[in-house]
Amino acid sequence: MKKRSALLLAIVMFLATGCGNGAEEVIPASEWEDEHPQVYETYLRNNEMVQTTFGGSVPIDYLEKYPELKTFYEGYGFSIEYLRARGHTYALEDVIHTERPKAAASCFACKSPDYLKLVQEEGITAHSMTFEEATEKMVNSISCYDCHENTPGVININRGHFFTGVENLGEEFEPQEMVCGQCHVEYYQDPETKVVTLPWHNGLSTGGMLQYFDDIGYSDWEHPSTGTQLLKVQHPEFETFQDSLHSGFGLTCIDCHMPSEESPEGDTFRSHHWTSPLKTVEASCIGCHSDQTPESLISWVEDIQGNVEERMNESSEALLELIALLAEETNNQTVSDQVLQDARNYHRQAQFKWDFVFVENSEGYHNNRLALQLLDEASELAQNGIDLLR
Ligand code: HEC
Ligand code: HEC
Ligand code: HEC
Ligand code: HEC
Repeated sequence: MKKRSALLLAIVMFLATGCGNGAEEVIPASEWEDEHPQVYETYLRNNEMVQTTFGGSVPIDYLEKYPELKTFYEGYGFSIEYLRARGHTYALEDVIHTERPKAAASCFACKSPDYLKLVQEEGITAHSMTFEEATEKMVNSISCYDCHENTPGVININRGHFFTGVENLGEEFEPQEMVCGQCHVEYYQDPETKVVTLPWHNGLSTGGMLQYFDDIGYSDWEHPSTGTQLLKVQHPEFETFQDSLHSGFGLTCIDCHMPSEESPEGDTFRSHHWTSPLKTVEASCIGCHSDQTPESLISWVEDIQGNVEERMNESSEALLELIALLAEETNNQTVSDQVLQDARNYHRQAQFKWDFVFVENSEGYHNNRLALQLLDEASELAQNGIDLLR
């Protein structure tokens, strides 16, 4: 398979650069401006904040937009503050300024290239340093070094957690999707070492991940009203995109998110403005969708997203009902411990599947079939719990 050579190449690159190489300096993005002025200009556009109908880079307040989140995430940091993601150039300041508690230094693993340097210098103990201790060493937000190290243009996968995840999974991918998958994935922080860990031991499906978390007895927190041991999903764009229609045609993240642009001199280069492709439909999509106009293609995408949102709201209703019943029974204790435990297990699974769709940043576009299937499963699991308690 064509993907094999890509993975081998990436591993060779990792071995060559990732281990014991001494602490290499991180060259800041601004120092590449003279050599790569066009790329650098598009990189600076990550500061722009533009909203689309369902997506975009305005940090809207999710807790205000979806008040049910306060119930779902009760007792956890995401019920305190939850804003929509924005551009890569904001990653560092956004993690430092969030109102949510930070577990450890490893929160920087996907926010700054300086974290790679910290790991080179301090070894595995870097991950469990306190967030505050590490903060003073973090200077750059996501930058050239994260994807190229100090060789702009050459993809350089450098996150240890990603290699371990791929190894546990035993599958192969293109460098042009692995480079984004280093950060745009579901993960948890190992409770002891605080090392970022991808729960891919049983595959990329929600069923496989739940099985893994159950096997190791892991939960992110206990819901204070229902007593359920819950899991918080992060941003599983990479997992969701696999097995999608477009992935089946051989597309990777960069085909849509880093479309080609032309410089005034007529050179083509890839845009480094990572944002909604609905702002670049001509360059990102129309080459293949030549039977559509940009407007008709955007409304096709929005129809898909609107349908997902509707199904998500239905699923949220079922989940809210289960949580209310479960909270009541946890208080009253009129059902047996076994029934309570089974109902909590339905809650754990239903909320994981619901969250997997909710936090995936394309609002169901990347893999529409999967999004709808997961929402159906979430509703059904919640209903099973409701039936059990009634
Ligand atoms: C076939 C084109 C295509 C591919 C391939 C693709 N995406 Fe997307 N992506 C989109 C579209 C369209 C949206 C929805 C944007 C919107 O709603 O404004 C989106 C949304 C996103 C968003 C949220 C951006 C925003 O501004 O709302 C992120 C993050 C993202 N994609 C990451 C990825 C990653 C990582 C990959 C690879 C694993 C990937 N995408 C592959 C088309 C694509
Ligand atoms: C989030 C990952 C990422 C970051 C950050 C990033 N790049 Fe890239 N860059 C890529 C990818 C992916 C390609 C396409 C490479 C390929 O397909 O082989 C690329 C291509 C390039 C190329 C080759 C010419 C082109 O545009 O196709 C240059 C030069 C380049 N990047 C420079 C930079 C510079 C300078 C920075 C910092 C200002 C930077 N990159 C930051 C991912 C990144
Ligand atoms: C080093 C980690 C890292 C890598 C590598 C990375 N991202 Fe991101 N990405 C982030 C973080 C963190 C955010 C959210 C930043 C914030 O909200 O402050 C983000 C946000 C985004 C957004 C939302 C911005 C917007 O304007 O809507 C898009 C789109 C995106 N990334 C696409 C990509 C693509 C495509 C790749 C691969 C070429 C990639 N990212 C590689 C960490 C990463
Ligand atoms: C490499 C070619 C290619 C590119 C690039 C591409 N697509 Fe597609 N897309 C296809 C093909 C082929 C299909 C399946 C046939 C069809 O339904 O038109 C498809 C299907 C779709 C569908 C309907 C499928 C569904 O999920 O139900 C939408 C919507 C779509 N594409 C939007 C986009 C958008 C938006 C972009 C750019 C951000 C894009 N595509 C980029 C080839 C492409």
